[in-house]
Amino acid sequence: MQTSAAETSVVIVGGGQAGLEAAAALRSQKFAGSITLICAEPHAPYQRPPLSKDFLLGEHEADRLTFREPSYFDKHNIALLLNAKVERIDRDSQRVHLADGRTVAYHYLILAVGARNRPLPIKGAERALYLRSLEEAIALRKRIANAKHVAVIGGGFIGLEVAAAARHYGKPVTVIETLPRLMARAVPAVLADFFLDLHRRNGVEIRMPGAAAEIDENGVMLTDGTHVAADLVVAGIGVIPETSLAKDAGLALGNGIVVDPFLQTGDPRIYAIGDCAEHPCRHAHSDSGNRVRLESVQNAVDQAKFVAMRIVKPDSSAPYRDVPWFWTNQFDVRFQMAGLSAGQDQQVVRGSIAGAKFSVFYFKAGELIAVDSINRLADHMGARKLLAAGTAITPEQAADEALDLRKI
Ligand code: APR
Repeated sequence: MQTSAAETSVVIVGGGQAGLEAAAALRSQKFAGSITLICAEPHAPYQRPPLSKDFLLGEHEADRLTFREPSYFDKHNIALLLNAKVERIDRDSQRVHLADGRTVAYHYLILAVGARNRPLPIKGAERALYLRSLEEAIALRKRIANAKHVAVIGGGFIGLEVAAAARHYGKPVTVIETLPRLMARAVPAVLADFFLDLHRRNGVEIRMPGAAAEIDENGVMLTDGTHVAADLVVAGIGVIPETSLAKDAGLALGNGIVVDPFLQTGDPRIYAIGDCAEHPCRHAHSDSGNRVRLESVQNAVDQAKFVAMRIVKPDSSAPYRDVPWFWTNQFDVRFQMAGLSAGQDQQVVRGSIAGAKFSVFYFKAGELIAVDSINRLADHMGARKLLAAGTAITPEQAADEALDLRKI
C-alpha cells in the first residue's frame, strides 16, 4: 500500500547542525508528513563553530547560539525531543527505540549523529577539558579566564583556536602537537608554516613534534622528559564519528557510516549526513577511493538539504556533489578553504604571505582542485564558484591579483 505524503514520517537522530537543517529543509521544501527530531543534548539545536571562537572570546553569549526560537518547532510541526537518546534501530519494524522506553516509527530515518571528542590516551587524561558541546565551552571559558598557564594538546583547528583565545585573555599558552606540522589533517605546509609563525608572533609557545605522556597536577609531562607547567590543560586531538547505532543495525561502516552518492546507507530507508557520514566525493583524493568524511558546517547543511530534497522528490536523480568549504578564525586571521587540496601537485600563491593577505591555489594535473584563502574573502567566494562549475583556470590566471575570480 502506498503512503500518502501527509502520512510519511521522518525521524532525524541528532540535533546538531545537520539534524536541525534536515528538519528545517523538509518543511521549507513543503514536506507535509511528520518530523521527529531526536536530540541527546538538553538544549534545542545550537551552533557549534562560535564555541571555540566568539563565544570562547567572550564576544557572544549562549543565547545567540540557538538556531531557532523555541516557537519555531511548534509552528512548523516538528516534534523536538530533547534529552532523548536513541538506543537501537529496528530496521524490520522501521522504529527507533529510545533509552526511556519510547519508540518512534519512521518511513525515512536520517542519521545525523555527528562525532565525539577523541579521548586522550594518557595517564591523568581526566584532568583535561575538551571542547565540542555548549557545556564544555561554558566550563572552558570560565577556566581560561582564571587560568595562569594554559597547555593545549593538539595543534589542529580546535587546539589553535583555543590557544588564540588564551592569548586574547593574556594567558601564557603552550601547544603540544605530535606531528611535525600544525593542522596537518587539512592544510599543506605553506599554510601550516604561516599559522606556526602567526601563533609564535602572538606569544604562543609551540612544542612540535611533542608528545604528552601524562597530565599531572602541575601540568603536562612530555615523553622527552620535559614538563609544561599548566593549571588548565585542554585536549583537541580530533573526533571519532558516532557509528554505534549504525553498526548495531548492520549498516556498513568505513571512516564513518558508509553512504552512496545519494547519501543513502545500504538500507534505502536510512540516510546518514554530516560529521558521521563517509560519502563519495568528486573532490576527494583518489587514494581514499574518492570517498571522504567531512567535519564542517557546509557539509552538514548541504547534505541535510540534499536528503530533504530526496525525500520530497524521490525521483530526483542527481547525486550529491556540493563543493566542500570550511573556515577558522585565529587572532586577526580569517582562513577559508574551498575544495580539498589532498593530492595537489602544483601550488600558486596570489597576494602576500608576509602581509597576511593571500590565497594558495592547488592544481592536480593542471586542474584547479582547491583554494585556501587568508583574509581574502573575494578569492574564497570566487573559488567556490569555479570549483562548483568545474571552470578551468590556468596557474597564470590564479596568480593574477587583478583578476576577480567571481567574474570568470
Ligand atoms: N598529542 C598531541 N597532538 C595530537 C595527539 C596527541 N596525543 N593526537 C592527535 N594530535 C593532533 C593531530 O596531529 C592534529 O594536529 O591533534 C590535532 C587534531 O586536529 P583536528 O583533527 O583538526 O581535530 P580538532 O582540532 O580536535 O577539531 C575537531 O572540531 O572545529 C572542528 O572541524 C573541526 O571537526 C574538527 C573538530
